[in-house]
Amino acid sequence: MNKISILLITGILLLCCSKKTIQNSRKKNRGLIAENAMVVSAKEEASKIGLDIMKQGGNAFDAMVATDLALLVTYPVAGNIGGGGFMVFRLADGTSGALDYREMAPISATKNMYLEQEGKVVSDNSKTGALAIGVPGTIAGLFEIHKKFGTISIEKLIQPAINLANNGIVITEAQAKRFSQHKVSFRKVNQKRILYDQQWRAGDTIRNPLLAKTLERIKTHGRDGFYKGKTADFIVNKVQNLGGIITKEDLENYNVKWREPIIFNYNSHKIISMPPPSSGGICLAQILKTIEPFNIGQYKHNSKKYIQLIVEAERRSYADRSYFLGDPDFVDIPTESLISTKYLSQRMKSFNWNKATKSSDLTRGSLLGFESDETTHYSIVDHYGNSVSVTTTLNGAYGSKVFVDKGGFFLNNEMDDFSSKPGTPNMFGLIGAEANSIAPKKRMLSSMSPTIIETNGQLKMVLGSPGGSTIITTVLQNILNILHYNMTMQESVSEPRFHHQWLPDNIKFEPSFDTVVFGPLKKLGYKIDNSNFQVIGKTDAILVLPDGRLEGGADPRGDDKAEGF
Ligand code: DON
Repeated sequence: MNKISILLITGILLLCCSKKTIQNSRKKNRGLIAENAMVVSAKEEASKIGLDIMKQGGNAFDAMVATDLALLVTYPVAGNIGGGGFMVFRLADGTSGALDYREMAPISATKNMYLEQEGKVVSDNSKTGALAIGVPGTIAGLFEIHKKFGTISIEKLIQPAINLANNGIVITEAQAKRFSQHKVSFRKVNQKRILYDQQWRAGDTIRNPLLAKTLERIKTHGRDGFYKGKTADFIVNKVQNLGGIITKEDLENYNVKWREPIIFNYNSHKIISMPPPSSGGICLAQILKTIEPFNIGQYKHNSKKYIQLIVEAERRSYADRSYFLGDPDFVDIPTESLISTKYLSQRMKSFNWNKATKSSDLTRGSLLGFESDETTHYSIVDHYGNSVSVTTTLNGAYGSKVFVDKGGFFLNNEMDDFSSKPGTPNMFGLIGAEANSIAPKKRMLSSMSPTIIETNGQLKMVLGSPGGSTIITTVLQNILNILHYNMTMQESVSEPRFHHQWLPDNIKFEPSFDTVVFGPLKKLGYKIDNSNFQVIGKTDAILVLPDGRLEGGADPRGDDKAEGF
């Protein structure tokens, strides 16, 4: 062997070894690991309270009730009793289900209630103030869950939130900033000062004794402590004084619905997600089933081709969302057809790697901007093997901004999730049609996608996100990160994200996204929007590791926290 060959071989060996060493030493950025049980939510106090319930022997459903009410106190921007939500669950034996406790339109709501005489949308009335409020569902939802699955007394589950409201929460930097951002609208909507519209600074403690009293009434009288009696009086008086239409009859008639989740296979995985009135499950199924034949794992993560494929699947799915989806109690939804492989492959016939499809060629609609606001998602797995995935919301940050002073809580602005006028975008830029028009007692279409994934009959992942229309695409990207790109749960939730929703016809990127792909995408005709855009989603998720331990992914975009034992 001559000198050159020896040098070459040594070089190759060195290269191989160093590559191996780099691979081996590339430290995975793992989130919190726990052996038994975990809660990941938007706030540390809430995750701790939920976990504590499980330490006392409670199950994931008990923990859900306690976590949810803790979020009401410690995360008033989205944690709520004045809003609604969805829960997807999977029991240790593999049984799954979904609870819909979405808000409902008041009985005297009408199809054209946000239109001016000339037929224009009175957009602000569906977004802010008393007319924007749907009949809240959260308390009915929590009591229904507790009735079916709870093992610890409701009093014990409510008490930690009462204590938190009485003792106070220490506010974070992000919270102080948010309170100050919304100060003006709090004052404008409520026509007087409210608890949250003071000069709050990070580190200050906010006590909310009136909210503690509301929770006491709920503890004593059950769901009637919210839907009847004093709390109901407080809500109705406040809403009607500000020109709203919610009555005591609306509150008394609120009901929850158990729904069959959307369940579908993606490669060898079983995905369980929220059915209508959320669009989440159907859109996730459509997008994943559309990209399945392309074997997306062969493309580099967040590369041009990766983005192209996902965007084209998203574009087609959101166009369908807009036309077909609404409250299943009011409209027939062709779910089977919408998620059938045959239909989806036909839909992709117009896809071309060399040229962006134009959204205007799929169907027509007008273009508008986008505003990001708040909802909250939490994921729980208990030591019995049950899991719950919950997304709950007031819709926008602090909902309608209407604050029930005497009760200490905000009311939602969920009415904006209806399509006030076909073809006119709502605050998330989403276009709706007749299927999502307003009717008394109807539920507005949602994008909230609490999701659970099972692999080979075993629990694999629990996840979800806030983010309005970007919820679905956020959940989607986390699923792909885990199933195809070998990321840890923490890496996955931290990754930069992008989003396309058919209209407006552009791809939104988070500011942290690598801009190197923008040029090549533009060349193919894609429009890029990284202006006016902060973050896309905020995922709190749990991954079951191969050895059965749990890894929490707490999104660094917020104060989110995983707690486990
Ligand atoms: O149900 C929906 O899809 C919306 N109301 C969710 C709003 C939301 O996620 C705002 N948060 N970022």
